[in-house]
This record gives sequence, structure tokens and C-alpha cells, in this order.
Amino acid sequence: MSTSNTKELQYSTAGIPTSDGAGVNMTRIIGSPELNMLDPFLLLDAFGSDKPNDYLAGFPEHPHRGFETVTYMLEGKMRHKDNAGNEGVIEQHGVQWMTAGKGIVHSEMPEQTEGLLAGFQLWVNLPKAHKMTEPKYQEFKAADIPVEDHDNGSFIRVIAGKTQQGTLGVINNEFVNPTYLDVTLKCGETFNHTVSKLDNSMIYMIEGDAEIGSNLAPLAHKQLGILTAGTEVIIKSKSSDIRFLFISAVPLNEPVARGGPFVMNTKAEIVQAFDDFSSNKF
Ligand code: CO
Repeated sequence: MSTSNTKELQYSTAGIPTSDGAGVNMTRIIGSPELNMLDPFLLLDAFGSDKPNDYLAGFPEHPHRGFETVTYMLEGKMRHKDNAGNEGVIEQHGVQWMTAGKGIVHSEMPEQTEGLLAGFQLWVNLPKAHKMTEPKYQEFKAADIPVEDHDNGSFIRVIAGKTQQGTLGVINNEFVNPTYLDVTLKCGETFNHTVSKLDNSMIYMIEGDAEIGSNLAPLAHKQLGILTAGTEVIIKSKSSDIRFLFISAVPLNEPVARGGPFVMNTKAEIVQAFDDFSSNKF
């Protein structure tokens, strides 16, 4: 029996504590000096605090161009508003997948003054040919997100992509097609998943400690694990129930130029983005 197609744990990190927006304390897991990107993922932030001073300042009006932002809430409520007239509140286990495309100006502010606010923001790059697409939103409440039940109480919230059993995510992607799963595994259970051999894949441990791949490499609570090439993903819970995000996609392999809230292919396109924004062309 060959295990050469198994994706093993290649690298793990706890990310870097940082502050963004108007002063929100969070952990930058991808998009930091330590881990610049995992193509096509440009950024992954984890926020989670019950101290209002860590989150109250929120993310007042700011622009984006050239990629997609994915907000997934674990606890609490966040209100978003944009210059295209969209507004809404994302609540626990709700998701917002925003295709910024050619440009959007939005704000993301906590809809609470106390209690726990927790969740993730992921940035998914857009292919060169679609960076200037029309902005678009996909937003779903927890009740709209398919939940696939497994043995002994394990279950998967299927945000994007397709599970091994064929459950389709609620998000319909046109450009890159990431898999984005929120997996709860009961103690002693195993998550098996097959991806394209081209995929870059990662796991973020929300709760508990996991064992990854045929080597049973340990991945601890609040760590991100990046997997080696291969097609077979094996994640086990050993000593407790665990919960993790599994995120995976085929890389774009295109040049990346970053400038704050803009991500394009060249420096000139970044300069253009700042020009367009300052002359109110968004
Ligand atoms: Co934003």
C-alpha cells in the first residue's frame, strides 16, 4: 500500500499578533512577513476576543481591488456596508464572500459592545483576466449553509467546494474554486478528503489538537498547517473532539503586486488603483 499521495504536514505556524482597521487586535496567519501567501490565498486573519477594546474600533470605510474577501463568523455579529448600497449583519456561522473586482469601498463594524467576537477573514486572489470584474456579494446565514453529518456526531459546514460525500458548498465561485470547510470531528474520528494534485491546502485548528497525514504529525490548537503536494488529506482527532478549517485551491501562479488594500499583477496597476480611489472612481 502506497501512501505517496498522502498530503503530509509541511509547515506550521501560529501567525503573528497584529492590529488592523482602526485598531482591531487579531492574529495574521497568512499575509505576514513570516508567511507572505499560499497561492491563491493572500491573507488569513483570525480574530477572537471578549475584550471590547480589542474589536470596538472595527474596520471603517476602506477600499479593495483585485481579489475576494471571505468573512466567516464563529461568534458575535459584524455589520458591513458598502458604496454599492449593500448592507447587512453577518452572524454566527454566517459567511460573506465579497468579490471586490474592479473596486469597492466598504466598512466592517462590530454589531455589539460586549461579549465574544470571533471569526476569520480570508483573501482569495483573482486571476489576472478577472481582477477588474464587477464587484459582487454572496452572503449566507448559518441556516443556509449545508451541514453534512458524519459518524458519532462529527459534521462539516460546507461553505465552498465539495466534500468527499458530494455535499456542495453554498458559495458559487466563478473565478477560483476553493474548498472551504468547517469540520467538527469527534474524538477518535478521521476526516478523509481528496483534492486535485495541484492544490495548495491548509488546515487551521479552531479547537483541539489534530494528527495529520500518514505520519500522524501533530498540529496544535490555534496553529495553521500547510500540507505537502499530494491528493489525499487525512486528519485525525485523537484525545478530544476537534474543530478546524480546511481550505484548499489550485494556485494561480501569476505575478502578485500588493499595495495595502489592493492586490494586482504589477506595481503600475497598484499605482493606478490608488489614483482611481483618490479620484473617486471606485
Ligand atoms: Co475590507
